[in-house]
Order: sequence, then structure tokens, then C-alpha cells
Amino acid sequence: ASDQFETLALSGRTVYITAGPTREALDPVRYISNHSSGKMGYALAAAARDAGARVRLISGPVSIAVPDRVQCVQVESAQQMLDASLEGLADCDLFIAAAAVADYRPVSVAEHKIKKGSEEIMELHLVKNPDIVATVASSKNRPFTVGFAAETRDVVAYAQDKLARKRLDLIVANDVSAPGIGFNSDENAVTLVGPDSVESLPQTHKQQLARQLINRIARHLNEQAK
Ligand code: CTP
Ligand code: CA
Repeated sequence: ASDQFETLALSGRTVYITAGPTREALDPVRYISNHSSGKMGYALAAAARDAGARVRLISGPVSIAVPDRVQCVQVESAQQMLDASLEGLADCDLFIAAAAVADYRPVSVAEHKIKKGSEEIMELHLVKNPDIVATVASSKNRPFTVGFAAETRDVVAYAQDKLARKRLDLIVANDVSAPGIGFNSDENAVTLVGPDSVESLPQTHKQQLARQLINRIARHLNEQAK
């Protein structure tokens, strides 16, 4: 009777996926952000669900629909994304950081709308945000942790450096300088980099690429005893 049930690559696994941009408030009406559409993270969530996982998306503000049967925690700032990522993390088997987290946020948030003033040059003071995926990867009883690396040059070398620095298990290297792929696009091409592996996945729709990535990530995860 058990042969009627296919064992899916991520069945029984709990997967957290960060996605989209973060927004870092300047005042009640303004923020610093980026052009991340959330498409790659949302496609990974659907693919992980189809692979049998229980999926929690931790998402910055995006304009696309949450996939069916995926739990979504909506956040704005990097700090909120970090807090949501740590919530229940002990039960998480696989953490995928697809979000485009703002590296810096304003040092302080003005209580009232900032007025224009007479000066021609305005200076903003920014402070570094916490690194969410690095925090997860160095947590006690860490999940299998996968990051992304958005690069415009020396893509694999920078990705290998990020993999080591953040203590990740795998990193998905993304050449964001190539036209028609990556940020805000429907297609992407990536290189999956591990401690001793490099695999190129050629340009295709993000849904298709997400399924390929989930299959490969699951293979690496299932090879490693938790
Ligand atoms: N990331 C994160 N928290 C941050 C910054 C980045 O979790 N505060 C994650 C991203 O979600 C991604 C990975 O780290 O999975 C790499 O992001 P990237 O912007 O490429 O790297 P950075 O370490 O921020 O370095 P830089 O922007 O200088 O290249
Ligand atoms: Ca960054």
C-alpha cells in the first residue's frame, strides 16, 4: 500500500524562505528599499510546497500573490524580517534566504515628515542592518542554510567568499548585471555553489528554475544527516 505514496524530496520538512525587499523607514511617509519583486522567493516557496514541505514565507512588501498552502508572515524592515526568521527556528529544517535585505537603515526614524529646508545637499546617516542569513546559520541547532549572492562581477568567487563568511551550506549566485534576468525579471540564471561544488543552471523561467533549485538543495540536504 505504501507504494501508492511517492516520497517527495522535502516531505516532512519545514522550510523557511525570506523573499522580497525590505523597507527601511526614514519618516512616517518615506523609506529606503530596492527593486526586488519577490518572484524568485515565491517560486521557491511553491516548489518547496510541491516537494512536500511545510513552507513559511517571510516576505517584505511585494505585489504578487502568496502561493496556496504556503504560510506567509509579512514584514517591512530587516529587523522585523530577522525577528520573524528566528520565530520557531528550532523546528526549521531548511532556511532559504532569497530576500533582498537592505544592507543599511537610517540611524533614526523621524517622528514627523522631514521638511525640505533650505540646504541643497542633504545627508542621510545610515547604520548596518543585522545579517539575517548569517544569524540563522550561526544559531544553535541550525537548519540547512542556503543564501543568495547578488553580484555584478566575479560572481562565483564572491559567492564562495559569502558562503564561507556567512557559514552557509549552499549559495545561489546570481549575476544581476546580465540583461533580462534576476531583479524584477521573470527569468533567471544562477550558479549553485557549495563548499566543494559549482553547478550552473542556465536561464529559464523562475518557476522552472525554482523547481531545479529545490531538487538540488533537497539532494544536498538529504545527503547531510541533520
Ligand atoms: N542577507 C541577509 N541579511 C542581510 C543582508 C543579506 O539575510 N542584512 C542575505 C540575502 O538574503 C542573501 C545573502 O545574504 O541570501 C547575500 O546577500 P547579498 O546582498 O548578495 O550579500 P551581502 O552580504 O549583503 O553583501 P554585498 O551586498 O556587499 O554584496
Ligand atoms: Ca547586500
